[in-house]
Amino acid sequence: MVIDVIHGPNLNMLGRREPEIYGTTTLADIDRELMEYGTSQGADIESFQSNTEGEIVDRIQEAFGRVSGVIINPAAYTHTSVAIRDALAMLSCPVVEIHLSNIHKREPFRHHSYISGVADGVIAGFGARGYLMALQAILEMIRK
Ligand code: DQA
Repeated sequence: MVIDVIHGPNLNMLGRREPEIYGTTTLADIDRELMEYGTSQGADIESFQSNTEGEIVDRIQEAFGRVSGVIINPAAYTHTSVAIRDALAMLSCPVVEIHLSNIHKREPFRHHSYISGVADGVIAGFGARGYLMALQAILEMIRK
């Protein structure tokens, strides 16, 4: 069972990027925790980060028909990208959208997500812990 974890723009800077909002955990820390938990559950976690919209679309297309679930933090593209939404809409596996911060408590331009309408679940506001919650949730969805 493969779960693809897709990290959008600027998430490569986690740990150093606005730590008062996003915390001090790095992306490598998050991926390591997901991979450890995934292994304990019989799931292979694949991780991908890009600062480029088209590369994220390509990655989602590569997931098509191949993976059992997708966890995605589209970062700023959450609020702008019809292309990422359309790519996710093609998938028949579960999709979980995740944000470290609670986007609904922040600036109005972050309140709308193009992604939520094609996601099976959304997790926001739990910081880095949210990724493990997303993995646990998607594994439950897949096993049902
Ligand atoms: C984010 C929230 C987005 O609004 C922002 O552009 C990000 C990170 C989050 O994880 O809280 O880059 O997706």
